[in-house]
Amino acid sequence: MGQTQALDVIIMAAGLGTRMKSNCAKVLHKLDGRTLISHVCRAAFVLQPRSVYVVVGHQAEVVQSALESEFPSQLDRITFVPQREQRGTGDAVMATESVLHGRDGTVMVLSGDVPLVKAATLTNFFEAHNRQGAACTLMSVRMENPTGYGRVARNEGGEFLKIVEQKDASDEERQIREINVGIYCFDNAKLFAALKQIKPNNSQGEFYLTDVPAILKSQGDKIAVYLHNDAREVSGINTRAELAEFENLLRRNTIRRLMIESGVTFIDPSHAYISAEAQIGRDTVIYPDVHIQGATIIGEACEIHQGSRIVNSHVGNRVTIKDHCLVLDSEIADDCGVGPFAHLRMNTRMEERAVVGNFVEVKKSHIGSGTKSMHLTYLGDATIGEDTNIGAGTITCNYDGKNKHPTVIEDHVRIGSDTMLVAPVRVGSGAVTGAGSVVTQDVPPKTLVAGVPAKEKKKLE
Ligand code: UD1
Ligand code: CA
Repeated sequence: MGQTQALDVIIMAAGLGTRMKSNCAKVLHKLDGRTLISHVCRAAFVLQPRSVYVVVGHQAEVVQSALESEFPSQLDRITFVPQREQRGTGDAVMATESVLHGRDGTVMVLSGDVPLVKAATLTNFFEAHNRQGAACTLMSVRMENPTGYGRVARNEGGEFLKIVEQKDASDEERQIREINVGIYCFDNAKLFAALKQIKPNNSQGEFYLTDVPAILKSQGDKIAVYLHNDAREVSGINTRAELAEFENLLRRNTIRRLMIESGVTFIDPSHAYISAEAQIGRDTVIYPDVHIQGATIIGEACEIHQGSRIVNSHVGNRVTIKDHCLVLDSEIADDCGVGPFAHLRMNTRMEERAVVGNFVEVKKSHIGSGTKSMHLTYLGDATIGEDTNIGAGTITCNYDGKNKHPTVIEDHVRIGSDTMLVAPVRVGSGAVTGAGSVVTQDVPPKTLVAGVPAKEKKKLE
């Protein structure tokens, strides 16, 4: 009976992934909007390992910066280890020797191309390894079609013998349906001692990590096999066809969960694209071809119509987003209306009952409650008060060619159609601008201005 050991994790991510037929390293391809490697990292961090070593080679800098921007709070726990030449998975792990060898405890090895593996599975796996007190525990799974994978060969007694790669397997060995998942726990000292003994005398001329268990066994060490029951979860992605299959699988699971557990209506569940981390409230209706990405939260009883895309945003309750809107990094409070064909971005916030309508773009702006901008307008760097109406064709001229400037429009203002607001500028509460005004100076409260440039016409009561 072993006890829980200190844990270090290695994620192998140096390969190009030839079978992807891509100029982009395989682990940088995206699943559910996030890189494959980030899925694996996220699961690994749940185990709270002492550190995570990511073995990088192809596009090392890109892999590194992708992970750094995605896990800013974990930077002190991630180390990037270069593997100069990709000489096989054994060589990849060997690359960590200088930073890892001699530490106590367990090394868990993961592959950067096995993105669906759940943290709970890794936790159970690690616990099993500790319980068994094995020098190595490898994860296996049974597959209907094991083609391409390393097979787990056992003797008549069912005891582990060795892992045989597809390309090196005899016809008989190819019949084996139990495959090596590519996830392992090793005793640190034993791993690095055994790695020194592996040789590239196989059909691919590579240093196989998969030779290590048999080497340990031959010297009398205990090898345990953890047979997992979900083949999909622990399958690696090698081709774009597999990537698309995974994407579909994940998507279907997400939508099913939202329908069954959250009470969301999908007009056509096969044509909605919702990230696994998005949350959607009860009685919200999602029309076809809607994309909801990132950590977006949508409240209850909303309608999100055809062709809209919402990214990293918060949407309140009873909000209607009409067809073909793009909402990025923004907040929309309860009972608002958006679209059709509206674009909200860069921390725009709409307060309750605000409406942003047809062909309106809003950037980095705050729109007060009950305020409406219904048609053909650009609002950038603007702060707009309550119950104000922005006429069709209004533009905040926020950019002077060098700098961006703010526009402030207070409460109960009526901005006439085709008003140009040359920022920086402020329009006071209760003011009105005439159609076609070019406002270059602040407008006092309760004042009507008009013309080019806009001049005061009268005071309003
Ligand atoms: C590997 C296993 C196989 C297992 C399968 C499960 C070996 C020899 N074979 O095969 O038994 O069934 O995974 O998915 O280990 N990598 C490096 N440096 C290298 C080579 C690979 O970092 O020099 C990385 C890759 O980027 C990838 C991972 O290791 O993330 C696995 O490599 P891959 O070439 O996909 O191995 P498989 O042929 O799938
Ligand atoms: Ca693989």
